[in-house]
Amino acid sequence: MKKIISVVGTRPNFIKIAPIIRALKPYSDQFTHLLCHTGQHFDEKMSTVFFDELEMPKPDFFLGINQGSHAVQTAGIMVEFEKVLLREKPDLVIVPGDVNSTMACSLAAAKLSVKIAHVESGLRSFDRDMPEEVNRIITDVISDYLFVTEESGLKNLKNEGVDPAKIFFTGNTMIDSLVYFREKIKRSSTLETLGLEEGKYIIVTFHRPSNVDNDAGLSEIIAFLNNLAGHHKVVFPIHPRTKSNLQKLPSAGALNPNLLLLNPLGYFDFLKLIGNAEVVITDSGGIQEETTFLGVPCVTVRNNTERPSTVDVGTNILAGTNLANVSMIVQEILKGNKKQGRLSELWDGHAAERVVAILSKQIAS
Ligand code: UD1
Ligand code: UDP
Repeated sequence: MKKIISVVGTRPNFIKIAPIIRALKPYSDQFTHLLCHTGQHFDEKMSTVFFDELEMPKPDFFLGINQGSHAVQTAGIMVEFEKVLLREKPDLVIVPGDVNSTMACSLAAAKLSVKIAHVESGLRSFDRDMPEEVNRIITDVISDYLFVTEESGLKNLKNEGVDPAKIFFTGNTMIDSLVYFREKIKRSSTLETLGLEEGKYIIVTFHRPSNVDNDAGLSEIIAFLNNLAGHHKVVFPIHPRTKSNLQKLPSAGALNPNLLLLNPLGYFDFLKLIGNAEVVITDSGGIQEETTFLGVPCVTVRNNTERPSTVDVGTNILAGTNLANVSMIVQEILKGNKKQGRLSELWDGHAAERVVAILSKQIAS
């Protein structure tokens, strides 16, 4: 038997790992699987709800590390994860995505010569001011099995000189979750609860430090959304980083009642809202992919994206961070000028099965 430890820490990690855990089940005579939650995200609405909805097992290890600067968080996770590695002696660690937990746990594993599989490898924004870009590059450099979600990832890894034998184009496990839970998402009654009509509201999320960690920028975003709410229902489930920054802002005055500020939503309700939105305005990574899958227009308020396929073939428009420009793009979409998209290759709901089949062969050999 080979022992695998999968690592999760943040909201998008849960969504990317749940399908892998499911895909590992038929291999229970080859693999023992343990789950480690670093604790990076810890609120009920940022963590527990995903374990429940995505049918994930309770974590075998909970490291309880959150808060602090990047160095404090990364170092804290490394110290605690190293203890787990020394005790459990796994044959493989699986890390998803690009968050601090991803890099910290892969570094701890590499130092103990434990093999690493990186799920969602090869994405690059080419913007090293993004903490995630540093996490991606480091994780890829020290990983042994690099599972790629879209073609740009293959090109990036090749350009960086990664041994092709380590690279596997398997598709997108985040989309696996969407496909697997499609019926449950359909059954969510959140539209009725929030008093929304299909296709007649806008969904918004913002949490990138570059957008929400400076007062002036965040105030402009709120003013932009308030303005938009003059003519449209705007639903904004607020990430904890954004919420704590909003609480520090001087009062923006009365907000339009059509601007619904909500707590973060569970997966089923959120995907139901995205799937029926007129347009989604976001700076999220994963939401760019989900909107492309669902064929819903997405306006990304960033200057770059590590997920270029969503722009090249999907419904995503990279709008930059000038809100006047963003507003023009959104207005065009609201007039009905919607970009038609198609799916990236292998976003078919079976990526995790491919990942696990490859690991099964690679680790046996
Ligand atoms: C992290 C990831 C980011 C990812 C995002 C997904 C890094 C560097 N960033 O950003 O790539 O897009 O998760 O959502 O890893 N907080 C709470 N409750 C929670 C979670 C966070 O209050 O459940 C607070 C933290 O205490 C902290 C702030 O939100 O003050 C930011 O959390 P952190 O995990 O450091 O970064 P995110 O912005 O969530
Ligand atoms: N999401 C959710 N509830 C919300 C906001 C987002 O379930 O209120 C889901 C979303 O559908 C996607 C994931 O969380 O699957 C994306 O997480 P986030 O935007 O926090 O991180 P990123 O992808 O930018 O790293």
